[in-house]
Amino acid sequence: MTPDFVARIAPLSPCYVYEQSVIRKNLSRLQSAFPSCRFLYSVKANPFAAILSDITRAGFGTDAASAGEVSLSLKAGIAPNNIYFSAPGKTAHDIASTIGSCRIIADSLHEIELLEQEAFSRKKIEKIGVRLNPDFSMLSEAGAPSKFGIDAQELDELQALLARCSHLTVTGLHMHLQSQMLDVEALSRYWAKSFEFFNRAAQRLDIHPDFLNFGSGIGLAYDQAHEIDLDLEKLGAAFEKHLGKFDRLAHAQPLIETGRFVVCRAGTYFTPVVDVKKSCGKTFVVVRNGVNGFLRPALANLIVSNNTQARDLQEPFYTNRHAFELKAFRSDGTPAPAPLERVDVVGNLCTALDVVAAGVDLPQVRPGDLIAVSNAGSYAYSLSPLAFSSHEPPKQAYLLENGDLAC
Ligand SMILES: Cc1ncc(COP(=O)(O)O)c(C=O)c1O
Repeated sequence: MTPDFVARIAPLSPCYVYEQSVIRKNLSRLQSAFPSCRFLYSVKANPFAAILSDITRAGFGTDAASAGEVSLSLKAGIAPNNIYFSAPGKTAHDIASTIGSCRIIADSLHEIELLEQEAFSRKKIEKIGVRLNPDFSMLSEAGAPSKFGIDAQELDELQALLARCSHLTVTGLHMHLQSQMLDVEALSRYWAKSFEFFNRAAQRLDIHPDFLNFGSGIGLAYDQAHEIDLDLEKLGAAFEKHLGKFDRLAHAQPLIETGRFVVCRAGTYFTPVVDVKKSCGKTFVVVRNGVNGFLRPALANLIVSNNTQARDLQEPFYTNRHAFELKAFRSDGTPAPAPLERVDVVGNLCTALDVVAAGVDLPQVRPGDLIAVSNAGSYAYSLSPLAFSSHEPPKQAYLLENGDLAC
């Protein structure tokens, strides 16, 4: 981050900046590490239009979690058969408005009935996928209750229902259990169990699927002092070695969904310091759009103080205590000067919970300076309560590889 670059951003702040070069590099790293796989970008991680255009150019499809994300994918130029609409609780309207413009993945028996009704009314045979909740978890041999998908124990019921649905044909299977994994062996075990389970499900449903969607799981080290990034080449090799073991799955295209890996580190959130206050011996650096600009750092403080357990289940709301690094700059882009002072960086909302970072050591800052927060490319703008307190929301900008900034 050069002073020139920060100085260009200062007048735009509060502002997210996404770096095209980082995104393009991540897209091609994934593709070369997993030669047999097709990737779907999880739009929910960051639906910024310029990012979706790069995703499209790279040949990724999309994992769309709503009718809105299907529509964003189409606008970005993704072909309907490369858009996979998977989410719980789809309504009849969601189905009617997206059928024919994406592949719909049924999340429940009820959704299958809705899909059959819609296909019947259109007098068409619809190809659908089905999301399953397997009888194992990412890290154990036991399944778990889930609001996602159709339970492994319901395969008979699913098969009986599908036999009555003359306008539907199941062409693919989908699973997703857990995000943000950093353990190659654990992911490899998950894929081995998934192939075996998909084969079992395909036998039970008497199908030869066209696609198998393994969901996400590919994580990254948010806190590089305490976590280690996945070895992507090793991970890709671990995936490939599970291929070709089941005849029934021989023609199925393997798909992996990924959001954060592509965009997380490409993003930085810049927000201006508007006040510096002392209270009872403590220093508060007040910035614009804290919780209501970038929720996750503030949420980390809340979750850490209330519950340090079950961290794996709190993604994408919480990753870890040190997931977001803060840096301070003058508005001319030079780093704010030493000495360091222990401060709380807080937002300008009328709630004491609006804490971007508690007890961090920052250089001496003053109003007009800029705070930059790392790891702001995924689940950042899209996950924040931007309308809260009616502040103007942050801007978003794309730093193109040629150095231009597109807003
Ligand atoms: C079904 C599904 N697929 C993919 C993802 C994307 O996960 P990640 O951003 O960790 O790659 C999620 C995240 O919640 C998900 O629920």
